[in-house]
Amino acid sequence: MHSTSISVTPLDSAPFGAKVTLPEYAKNDPANLTDEDFETLFNGVHKHLVVVIPNQAELSPKSQYLITKRFDPSIPEPKEVEGAGSGAGYGHGKEFRHEQSVLKKDGTTVKSQPQVQILGQGKFGADEPGNENGEDISLTHPSHTTFHHTPLTEQQIKEENRTRFYRWHIDSALYDLSPPVVTTLLGIKVPPTTQKQTIVYEDSPNQETKLELTRGATCFTSGALAFKGLSPEDQKFALSTTVEYAPHPYIFISPAGATNDGLTMVSEDKEFSFDKLPEWESSKVKKLPMVWTNPVTKEHHLQLHGCCLYKLHTTNDDGSVTTLDLKDARNKAHELMRPAIEPEKVLAHAWSEGDLVIFYNIGVWHSVTGEFKGINKDGKDERRLMHQCNIASAVDPKTIQ
Ligand SMILES: [Fe+2]
Repeated sequence: MHSTSISVTPLDSAPFGAKVTLPEYAKNDPANLTDEDFETLFNGVHKHLVVVIPNQAELSPKSQYLITKRFDPSIPEPKEVEGAGSGAGYGHGKEFRHEQSVLKKDGTTVKSQPQVQILGQGKFGADEPGNENGEDISLTHPSHTTFHHTPLTEQQIKEENRTRFYRWHIDSALYDLSPPVVTTLLGIKVPPTTQKQTIVYEDSPNQETKLELTRGATCFTSGALAFKGLSPEDQKFALSTTVEYAPHPYIFISPAGATNDGLTMVSEDKEFSFDKLPEWESSKVKKLPMVWTNPVTKEHHLQLHGCCLYKLHTTNDDGSVTTLDLKDARNKAHELMRPAIEPEKVLAHAWSEGDLVIFYNIGVWHSVTGEFKGINKDGKDERRLMHQCNIASAVDPKTIQ
């Protein structure tokens, strides 16, 4: 059924999220929305946090860029001199694919639209849908096995069909640049939704708590529900705390391993010392409030990146400041964040080909899941190709008291 205006329908039996149907005049391209219908989409994304527009497999990188950018009027127009492939305007800076960064292998850039990244798993020929670059590309799906301190065994992955939350995060460079307001993620080639994997909550009594999801599901949790679930003392703590991130945080943490739930890092003093990092300046180190207020719903969202944080600074009632250093800061972050990833609070998006997911990046945390390597019956890797776009904001998110 085609309609003359956009519709936003909350998802059934999910903690949050909505499905969007485009109006007929848009000709299946969300970049064509009128200002009025875009406002409905803008409000829907802020209210439901994750929205899905189906049947977008043909969406061009240019339209994806335009719709992403439209959510944040602070984004400057790209300068003509910026060369394609420079990554200019993307949510991460020039250290994004640094040799030692934990993000290095996460994708490649669309040459004609460098704000759009190609992510996935497997080799794709120059003529395959979604490979815009006119040459063969090879993609590697991030697997927890290269990031977690103590990964699942091969038997747990291949025979018990288990996976983990790879890394709960907000898309952001967390150095110099401000977090992007939204991220758009387009599934162009995805595995069949009949393939399931299981996440076992390894810290639950008898490991009884489990989440079953489609292979490669992208998981989201609401920062607003996370804040609401805190005790009054913890809400006060969160509202009075500034999170300081490490300089070049994805390089800083690269020698360390993450906790089994992907929420933070195991503290073993393995991080790079600051003098071993690429050049950095203290004015570019990110210090962000722990609570970011949603401008549409006015709700507070608990928003921190547990893997990349360095210190927590809390202002006390008398105006003095208490600082938690790396290990204690991670422990505190974990304590605050852990309840929000219980299965009933997680939206595990099962990808269908053509899904365009738009999520309010500064109001949710999300995580990759799924093991793709050597898991098919013939021992071959599963294949997947996605387009991702997010653009650093010109302003930091803030708490509105
Ligand atoms: Fe992400």
